[in-house]
Amino acid sequence: MTNRVFMLPLWIRLWHWSNALAIIVLAVTGVSLHFSNPELPLVEFSLAARIHNVAGVCLAGLYVVFVVGNIVTGNWWQYVPKPPGIIGRCLTQMQYYGSGIFKGEKEPFPPTPEVNFNALQAVTYWSIMYLVLPVVIATGLIFLYPQFAPDRLFGLDGLLPIAMLHYLGAAVIVLFAVSHIYLGTMGPKVSSLFKMMITGWYEH
Ligand code: HEM
Repeated sequence: MTNRVFMLPLWIRLWHWSNALAIIVLAVTGVSLHFSNPELPLVEFSLAARIHNVAGVCLAGLYVVFVVGNIVTGNWWQYVPKPPGIIGRCLTQMQYYGSGIFKGEKEPFPPTPEVNFNALQAVTYWSIMYLVLPVVIATGLIFLYPQFAPDRLFGLDGLLPIAMLHYLGAAVIVLFAVSHIYLGTMGPKVSSLFKMMITGWYEH
């Protein structure tokens, strides 16, 4: 018998898919800008720059929606990694993703409306959403308005460390997205978590 639990309100789902779209557009145009080759551009440089700027501003707006929505609804609490025993729970979850799931073992910490994320998800989502993404957005906005960049930073021209932080943070987000999509297949069925992210209902 299939059980259904309602997990995700509409605003989170709308935020999530708009955010995912913005990140994909930013990644494609960002790669075009970083590895620009006039002979063989992925997206032509000046077009890529314009799209990247617009998508970046959209991402910043979506981030405000995410933070305000989480505060207003109290959903921020889901993201807080909760000791004690957090390292042990992360290891158990890794063991499940790495081997248990392939042997048909039961999910150690299935999602519930009260505790949506297992410990590994909480640590990862918290770090991405509250550490890495704000750095990428803030450095991107400084690039858009370079008059706000410091003249010198760490003994270097102010914009250079900003550029490095932006690039490194963006690379982390892209790596996160790849592993995130892979782990998204690890629900009760390959499609379960993607379906939940669309309909809001978790079926198990
Ligand atoms: C095409 C790209 C993406 C796909 C297919 C995808 C898929 C999914 C799936 C299946 C879930 C549910 C699994 C779970 O609860 O852990 C989920 C949740 C989540 N994803 Fe993504 N994702 C994508 C991109 C992103 C990106 C780029 C970010 C952030 C930078 C992100 C952040 C999140 C967060 C924070 C949640 C938890 C939302 C909540 O339950 O409150 N996702 N995603």
